Amino acid sequence: MNAPLANSRFLRACRREPVDATPLWFMRQAGRYMPEYRALRSKHSMLELCRNPALATEVTMQPVNAIEVDAAILFSDLLLPLEPMGIPFDFIKGEGPQIERPVRTRADIDAVKVFEPREALGFTMEAIRLVKRELGGRIPLIGFAGAPFTLASYAIEGGHSNNFALTKALMYGDPEGWHRFAARLADIVADYLVAQIEAGVDAVQVFDSWVGALNAADYREFALPHTQRIFAALEGRGVPTIHFGVASASILGEMREAGGDVLGADWRITLDEAWDRIGHDRGIQGNLDPTLLLGPEDRLLAGVADVMRRAAGRPGHIFNLGHGILPPTNIERVQAVARFVHAWKPE
Ligand code: CP3
Repeated sequence: MNAPLANSRFLRACRREPVDATPLWFMRQAGRYMPEYRALRSKHSMLELCRNPALATEVTMQPVNAIEVDAAILFSDLLLPLEPMGIPFDFIKGEGPQIERPVRTRADIDAVKVFEPREALGFTMEAIRLVKRELGGRIPLIGFAGAPFTLASYAIEGGHSNNFALTKALMYGDPEGWHRFAARLADIVADYLVAQIEAGVDAVQVFDSWVGALNAADYREFALPHTQRIFAALEGRGVPTIHFGVASASILGEMREAGGDVLGADWRITLDEAWDRIGHDRGIQGNLDPTLLLGPEDRLLAGVADVMRRAAGRPGHIFNLGHGILPPTNIERVQAVARFVHAWKPE
């Protein structure tokens, strides 16, 4: 990594070093709220965009060129590793992901394939190299993958779920099978993230989006050991790690134990309280409610100011939303948030 990049606001904040302005990026900063994205999407499916390195690069760069973000995130999807595991899926318009044959039995679990990400997901590694060239050292690139609980929940439920009934039924009903599945997912995800680091990403985020469905005891028993294995595999590789979950306020302490230089928090908890729970020896990323972007600008900016005030100028805050940008969002609102955060002076 070149020296100016290592000194970028985003990477400095990941290391809890002082910064000239709070760095920010937005989860789902590339996507349907952008006219440029919708234009490309009218010609290609979501999976085509992910699997074509030139198109994935173009989409990754769209928000970088339109908004003052301090990091790019690779355009891809959490679910891409499922296909080479032998769990094919597609994105269905208006419904989200749909897994063809969900994982439900011990035989299904044992059939899950471990694969070489540098080959099976070689298009992702190629996209990383192209994006790095395109960025030319201006801002860092974030790579990502899903944590075992969140990935397993898609594989088991067959798509999105509100209560994770099938996932929990398998977890409680066949703990040994669950652990075998989650351990295999952890090995695959760790190798996939290492491959992304080798290809050039400057930081990685582990998305455990749905882990807030677990209480602390269940998180500790069923998720923590596997997520911990991923972070252990990333140690000493020279890139900071971010660990993100939604509705995870009650398990932030356990998530911290699993790993991450920076922990994500959503809007259901105030940023200062979340940081107390995480501990000030780690960074924090968050935590504006993405629906505030849909309302009036004064209320939006009051929400941003509240987040900034609660961060209190402490090193180690990366501004972000508590979850992804929603499709009806107006890009001007996102640009206004970026300008506001960068202009903020600690009071
Ligand atoms: O943040 C970024 O800009 C990078 C791109 C990115 C996408 N998905 C693009 C995407 C990232 C980091 C993800 C991660 C992801 N994918 C997560 C974890 C983050 C989170 O939101 O909690 C999850 C749970 C998924 C699975 C997934 N992908 C779902 C449930 C859906 C359908 C829901 C929806 O918003 O339509 C997707 C599709 C998806 N992934 C889109 C994008 C831009 C929309 C695709 C389209 O129709 O154009």
